[in-house]
Amino acid sequence: MPAGVSAEVKTYKLYVNGDWLEGDSRKTFPVYDPSTEDVIAQVPDSNSKDVDRAVAAAKAAFEDGPWAITTPQERGRTLFRLAEKIRQNVPMLAELECRNTGKPIVEAEFDINDVATCFEYYGGLATKILGYVNPVPDNAVSLTLKEPVGVAGQIIPWNYPLLMAAWKLAPALAAGCTCVLKPAEQTPLTALEMANWFSEIGLPAGVVNIVTGFGETCGAPLVKHPDVNKIAFTGSAQVGKIIVKQAAESVKRVTLELGGKSPNIFFADADFEAAIDGALFGVFINQGEVCSAGSRILVQKPIYKKFVDAMTEKARNIKLGPPLERETKMGPLVSKDQYERVRSYQDLGKKEGKVAIGGGRAEKFAKGYYVEPTIFYDVENSARIAREEIFGPVASVIPFDDEKDALKIANDSPYGLAAAVWTRDIFKAFRVVKALRAGIVWVNHMQPTYVEAPWGGYKQSGFGRELGPWGIEEYLETKQVHINLNEQPIGWY
Ligand code: NAI
Ligand code: MG
Repeated sequence: MPAGVSAEVKTYKLYVNGDWLEGDSRKTFPVYDPSTEDVIAQVPDSNSKDVDRAVAAAKAAFEDGPWAITTPQERGRTLFRLAEKIRQNVPMLAELECRNTGKPIVEAEFDINDVATCFEYYGGLATKILGYVNPVPDNAVSLTLKEPVGVAGQIIPWNYPLLMAAWKLAPALAAGCTCVLKPAEQTPLTALEMANWFSEIGLPAGVVNIVTGFGETCGAPLVKHPDVNKIAFTGSAQVGKIIVKQAAESVKRVTLELGGKSPNIFFADADFEAAIDGALFGVFINQGEVCSAGSRILVQKPIYKKFVDAMTEKARNIKLGPPLERETKMGPLVSKDQYERVRSYQDLGKKEGKVAIGGGRAEKFAKGYYVEPTIFYDVENSARIAREEIFGPVASVIPFDDEKDALKIANDSPYGLAAAVWTRDIFKAFRVVKALRAGIVWVNHMQPTYVEAPWGGYKQSGFGRELGPWGIEEYLETKQVHINLNEQPIGWY
């Protein structure tokens, strides 16, 4: 047992073909509570042999197992049963998610309820996958059939661990696919706990397999595996680019959600109080570890000074604290790596902009990866803190003159995941909505996310869409069927 690991620390196994297995190497790695820096679990360090086993199980479950012939109705009911289990276990799952990610418990409870909602939504959608009758100019019936793509490899991040698992598993299962899920190495615990219920809710062995491990040793073999038909990935743009290259060898379908540097645009006519609230919520929720974080705050010049002052004042009252305390509004960052990364951007920001508030570690905590909510102002859009994803509670406030100027700055980014605009002028709002190059645009709000509405980005924020009916399309193949109704020979020769 490694040093510092107490006897109560649970050691997990891999979930493959309906069984809990030791990893091929027998090695495990520690999982931490980022608020105490304590080890809270050990999980298998899966390698390519473990990935091979998981993919073989998923392939067999797809090709020969009961899943391929399960009716959409039964697939839907299975997802409803999973949703019910999750709803019954919100306290346990939320607490585990909270301890493992450092996010405030109240936010973790929202996340776990959203997980159940996601399984319910796709449980319902399983019976609404429709084909098509094509109006071909012949005495024939031409059909379009929708079929599952097969084995889906799903690689997810650490900021919303179980929710990201649900966004990927739910549409895949509704479509009839089988899955190999690789949770983020920092946060694999809630997905593993969920797997405890799979056989009880009637999910056949091999339909969902979970391999825990690191990107290069466990994620990459999944991406390269010839029997995996599709990869769904959420994470950094850097890894997204590697995945596209690695998937090319076997011409896999790939969908990518790669985060962003989303602009939150405030015109002078916006409701001021709501705007200040929206600016803070947009960038500080979940410690700023949000792919759609409104990390570039664009403010029109007439209200700029007042806006920066009001944001700063309000940010002083953000309650940092232990994630399990219900009053806590901001916990520690997820890991030492992420803490160091965010700290380095805080230091860079002091050179690239002016500090309104924050800029360092939150020193009142003896332990844990706590950083101060940080606001830099007078930031140039060309600065690194305005171009690179920080993924922490660090905002860059940028002044603008008019609508044209705001749009130029907003769209001047390699990313295009999300954006928001605040104004009382409906005409201006719609002009801006249409001109923004982003996959999600909010008006007079930032961050609400619903399973019914599409999620995904433009430009280097990735491609493909999750959620809603768009999410299931990514797990479906399209088959054309032609049924000839002419009884005579073709008569060509
Ligand atoms: P990452 O992109 O390295 O990790 C995301 C997932 O990809 C994890 O499951 C990881 O194990 C896996 N992965 C890593 N390398 C891989 C490879 N070569 N092949 C296959 N899978 C691989 O993200 P990381 O290092 O945890 O965070 C770095 C930055 O990425 C963050 O600061 C943030 O800017 C961004 N990020 C964006 C997210 C989003 O929601 N779009 C989520 C997490 C991180
Ligand atoms: Mg990484």
